[in-house]
Amino acid sequence: MSQKDVAALTVIALAAGKGTRMKSPLPKVLHPVAGRPMIEKVISASKQAGAKEVRVVVGHGQNLVRQVVEPMGVACYVQDEQLGTAHAVKCAKPETIEGDVVIMNGDHPLIEASDIKNFVEIFRDEKCDLAVVTADLKNPGEFGRIVRHRGDLAAIVEAKDASAETLKIKEVNTGIYIVKAEVLAHYLPLISNNNAKKEFYVTDLISLCIGDKKRVQPIKSTPKVAVGVNTQLELAKATRLIFKRKALKLLEDGVLMIDPRTTYVEESVEIGAGTVLYPNVFIRGRSRIGSFCVIESNSFISDTEIADSVQVRGGSYLENSKLHSKVSVGPYARLRPETEIMEEAHVGNFVEMKKVKFGKKSKAGHLTYLGDAVVGEEVNVGCGTITCNYAADKKKYQTKIGNRVFVGSDTQFIAPVEIGDDAIIGSGSTITKSVPAKALAVARGRQIVKENYTPKAVTPEVEKE
Ligand code: UD1
Ligand code: MG
Repeated sequence: MSQKDVAALTVIALAAGKGTRMKSPLPKVLHPVAGRPMIEKVISASKQAGAKEVRVVVGHGQNLVRQVVEPMGVACYVQDEQLGTAHAVKCAKPETIEGDVVIMNGDHPLIEASDIKNFVEIFRDEKCDLAVVTADLKNPGEFGRIVRHRGDLAAIVEAKDASAETLKIKEVNTGIYIVKAEVLAHYLPLISNNNAKKEFYVTDLISLCIGDKKRVQPIKSTPKVAVGVNTQLELAKATRLIFKRKALKLLEDGVLMIDPRTTYVEESVEIGAGTVLYPNVFIRGRSRIGSFCVIESNSFISDTEIADSVQVRGGSYLENSKLHSKVSVGPYARLRPETEIMEEAHVGNFVEMKKVKFGKKSKAGHLTYLGDAVVGEEVNVGCGTITCNYAADKKKYQTKIGNRVFVGSDTQFIAPVEIGDDAIIGSGSTITKSVPAKALAVARGRQIVKENYTPKAVTPEVEKE
């Protein structure tokens, strides 16, 4: 089939509901699943599946929902009153769509592009007018039940409207439908709200279309596709499933994990083969990690680029930073945004850096704060060094340290200052003026020694006895 013959694909994602069962002030579709709002997952899967347009129906908490979805380049359609899923679809103006339409609930975060592609392909191959994606569940709970007559799809019955007999059915409606735009536009207005919830159910499209002898097919999928989020427990379960799915993918790609059940890597993260992840690591956002790295327990890594053979030791917190190859940080290091650690450098325990470029083979082993600083190569930063970058005028000032500088322990740099190559700073110095290359700077009180100063020792009574 040529590209021209394939009908255009539009996705309508329903995201106007309140999510009462979440018992949370946040609109349901904004609750994060494995780090991202669940509606974002639905939208990105739709786009990757080739949707030319994604229409999101917003209503409850729409100002917040728009902030998340509009930057993704989708159009929002408002449903002022939540009168049910069919009413929500109507708000997306299906009469203005041509081609095939996928309707999806915004609360199904496990959906992947490959699932959507697959359903659309079946829908097209079978020349359907309407298809509904179903799954068999051990505990079908609140899901709409798929009622069949002699094996053929007959209707979807909502749990609230179902008889005890119907509730025994294990095959459920996953909330994903594929329909021709003109069929959708024709049948939507015919749906009534004659049911337990007095809502307009999109599921009624099925019986209406069947009644008119349209070609309606169920597409049986897996329980994964049916994982919807209506409660906090379901949200936690969905999150766990996504982290597990990512962990399995990483294991397949040659990443080592001591316990994949307690390794929390977001879907967007890339990790090279041969890297070891200890239990309880959290890796987020746009983080990229190379090969042969070791990431120890309780490390939190967000939007950080890490090259090959880097060691991140336990309890380190890295945000929006860049670590070159053979660097080691931690245990208990904190790298704040815009920090870059060059090859083979070492950042030790209880060291905090912010907006720092830390040179090749340089070391800051212990208890140090560097902020707004440029540090050259092979510098030794002694224990307890502080760059005093924030002044009383509430402005930030820079400290520049050249190559091979030796900074003695307990030094304060009162920025702005510049230290030349090969300079030595004596321990305990408060450096307020720049130091030229190769110089020794000592800025501390001189030691005074007064001999025989202590008054004669008083011998305790007990010892006399
Ligand atoms: C719905 C289906 C049910 C299916 C289940 C799968 C109907 C009537 N029922 O039930 O058959 O098994 O999904 O998860 O469709 N929404 C709106 N506007 C509204 C109402 C809902 O935008 O007026 C949105 C919600 O934000 C949500 C989605 O539609 O994203 C589904 O609504 P929800 O109330 O969760 O439906 P379920 O009871 O789960
Ligand atoms: Mg739901």
